[in-house]
Amino acid sequence: MGITKRKFGETKNGECVSAYLLKNANGMEAEMLDFGAILRVLKVPDKNGAFLDVVHGFDSVKGYEDHNDTYYGATIGRCGNRIAGAQFVLDGKTYPLDANDGKNNLHGGFAGYEHRMFTVREMQDNDTPSVCFSLHSPDMDQGFPGNLDFCITYQLTADNTLQLSYAAMSDQKTIINPTNHSYFNLNGHQSGTILDQEVMICADAFTWADAESIPTGELVSVEGTPMDFRSFHTIGERIDQEDTALKYGNGYDHNYCVNDTGKMKKIAALRSARSGILMEVESDLPGMQLYTGNFIKGNQTGKGGVCYPRRSGVCFETQYYPDAIHHPEFKQPVYAANETMRSTTRYHFSILS
Ligand code: GAL
Repeated sequence: MGITKRKFGETKNGECVSAYLLKNANGMEAEMLDFGAILRVLKVPDKNGAFLDVVHGFDSVKGYEDHNDTYYGATIGRCGNRIAGAQFVLDGKTYPLDANDGKNNLHGGFAGYEHRMFTVREMQDNDTPSVCFSLHSPDMDQGFPGNLDFCITYQLTADNTLQLSYAAMSDQKTIINPTNHSYFNLNGHQSGTILDQEVMICADAFTWADAESIPTGELVSVEGTPMDFRSFHTIGERIDQEDTALKYGNGYDHNYCVNDTGKMKKIAALRSARSGILMEVESDLPGMQLYTGNFIKGNQTGKGGVCYPRRSGVCFETQYYPDAIHHPEFKQPVYAANETMRSTTRYHFSILS
């Protein structure tokens, strides 16, 4: 139980990267890196009591440095998902950003938080060990205004919940919309595709997006469509149906409107009959991107020499709606100077009964 630190490797600039392992009394483990505040390993018990590592990752820093378009386990900042036209206007001033996804901005830009070194604080509470990773993001970092102090705390509780708590504050009005980009596979990261695993999402609607995954502003009901996960469906059941939303997303790559209350609530679940593992996702944000690893090219050697095929992991990216800054009708990820942004995401694991 508790926290163990070890040397993981070095960045190409020669910075020393450490791995922090949290372990609870049930034997569940979560390992994070101070490089990118990346969640690298998550071992949870299956129905036979064996521990499966249920997230994608790499065994070297180089793996993460070389593959910068999949964001395995990454902490995304300053703004998750897309900003149309790679620019936005705040108080009359235009802020150009990196166009790193066609002509749009994705996950903050080329120099995302997933490749930064974080400062670490360990909290040695043996029942619920936690590690806090903090980062100073200077004014105009990635093109965003304001000196921002950002931190993410990973905490492992006694009831097999991994909790991610974000806190950030800037000295100027700015956009803050961090998320975590873990790819889950409840049969183990090495087990192949997630098409036979079942998803449930507490959402009646999703944000309609164009072929570049930019929302049009329309919220579309999931009723009668392959986007409807209000009850459990396998990911593979409808993913290749003739459907415009699925065509534009190359599969599921959509923001669900998760029945916003502004409070912590269950928003989604993933389960596997094979391993007997159930994962429930909680968040206090209005949106969640369901992304089924459609762009994994199958050319990446991950942990233990495993090659991850297309659709071998599924992401549940808790977030403000994509491109919210261009849609005043969406809840805004804009925070005033000296206003604290706080948000929490929980992944709770149990065995199916
Ligand atoms: C997701 C995004 C996908 C893809 C992926 C990274 O969050 O919605 O379209 O860019 O990140 O490969």
